[in-house]
Amino acid sequence: MFKCILVLFVINNYVFGSKHWGDKQKLTTVASWKQLSYSIDGVIYSKDTDDKNVPNKSNNGTVKSEKFFIQYNNVPSGVELDNNRVFVTVPRRQYGIPSTINFILPDQSSSVLYPFPSPRYIEQFVSVYRPRIDDCGRIWFVDTGLLEIPGERKQVKKPTIYAFDLKMDKLVVKYELKDTDLVNERTPGGLTSITIDVSPNCCNDAYAYINDLATSGMIVYSMKDNDSWRIEDPSFKYQSSAVNFTAAGYLITWQDGLFSIALSEPDDKGKRTAYYHSLVSTQEFAVDTKILKSGVRNLNGNSMLLGNRGPLTQSGSHDYHPETRILFFANVAQDAILCWRTDTALTEDNVGIAAQDRKKLVYISDLKVIKDEVWVLVNQMPVFIFSTLNPDEVNFYIHKANIRDLIRGTVCDIGHDK
Ligand SMILES: *[C@@H]1O[C@H](CO)[C@@H](O)[C@H](O)[C@H]1NC(C)=O
Ligand SMILES: *[C@@H]1O[C@H](CO)[C@@H](O)[C@H](O)[C@H]1NC(C)=O
Ligand SMILES: *[C@@H]1O[C@H](CO)[C@@H](O)[C@H](O)[C@H]1NC(C)=O
Ligand SMILES: *[C@@H]1O[C@H](CO)[C@@H](O)[C@H](O)[C@H]1NC(C)=O
Repeated sequence: MFKCILVLFVINNYVFGSKHWGDKQKLTTVASWKQLSYSIDGVIYSKDTDDKNVPNKSNNGTVKSEKFFIQYNNVPSGVELDNNRVFVTVPRRQYGIPSTINFILPDQSSSVLYPFPSPRYIEQFVSVYRPRIDDCGRIWFVDTGLLEIPGERKQVKKPTIYAFDLKMDKLVVKYELKDTDLVNERTPGGLTSITIDVSPNCCNDAYAYINDLATSGMIVYSMKDNDSWRIEDPSFKYQSSAVNFTAAGYLITWQDGLFSIALSEPDDKGKRTAYYHSLVSTQEFAVDTKILKSGVRNLNGNSMLLGNRGPLTQSGSHDYHPETRILFFANVAQDAILCWRTDTALTEDNVGIAAQDRKKLVYISDLKVIKDEVWVLVNQMPVFIFSTLNPDEVNFYIHKANIRDLIRGTVCDIGHDK
């Protein structure tokens, strides 16, 4: 009898996949790394390497700034999903990062990073945080142009918007931001995400909304006009009453402003709502994208405070699921994915913890809604900044969860109270 149950259990596990984990088995791990490795021009780099094409050879005589690959310094930051490629960015915040925008092929067990779109670009792109694929099959990202080495910051290039059509990996937008889009030399390091407002039947009429968390603003780019401008508003600043929280056990002292912009589905007139927040904030704001597109330089009372998510809800990336009208948040203060149904009032009671894990969700650096799934990239960034990662343990993850599973049992469940 026991044997029989055991056999069934094993079969069950196999059929439904043994990779589900977490509270109520909501999450599936797509990739995990102790440390990152690269495959560039057919050469695998999985140990420190001084010179390109001479893998695994590193000696103490070569200065760090000259080394091609310093494995420990490679910390992933952003994630996106194409049909078969999972994009993974590695901002150049230290020396020894061979390529800042890459993809993995998730069926390969090694999860080695391949430069995007090809190895020819590894020097051209300086530093990329969080890319975005739009409804027209294009990947957009901001190259901050900044080598963000502590104490040795260097603006190598002007911050530049890129978009590639993913059918042929063809470059379709390359646009250098204007000096008037930037406040000072700190601004480029704050351009950590890009949100694309476009309809699939009008692909040339795309708008990009770029957050500036360093000098608290938003930069808008119109593809049709090939022009950009900067918008200021008090709601783009951090919230001073939300400064005290920990992530990965460290007191976060950053004063990051506008961090994430998520768009609703369009209404009958094609208008969307842009939901946004600062990292150091428990509030959420909304503005009609018509205002963002109009060319105004200031929101002038057109932004709306929706409410407060509650204590310890400081969150980085967030994204919107049109079918359920739920926003999902990368909640760094509680190692959690939060949810809020946007057709309910934004109060603490209406915000649910959809998933939480004190190990595998420690610092969700990016979160994307992709069809009916939520994808997250986890990177323990505070440990890297304030302490040391253990390269013998798993440090970085990409997980995904089906949205129905994710909201089950939370206040965001559609069946709730009905
Ligand atoms: C480099 O090191 C890795 C990991 O030990 C190994 O798998 C690979 O074969 C090495 N490559 C070369 C060219 O020695
Ligand atoms: C390089 O330096 C490290 C630490 O300073 C030391 O442990 C290692 O033996 C050195 N390697 C070589 C090849 O000199
Ligand atoms: C867009 O404007 C930039 C200068 O701001 C220019 O370099 C670029 O060629 C323009 N692109 C197109 C498609 O016109
Ligand atoms: C944050 O913590 C510091 C040190 O404990 C304290 O002085 C300060 O008043 C706190 N700020 C807020 C807004 O809670």
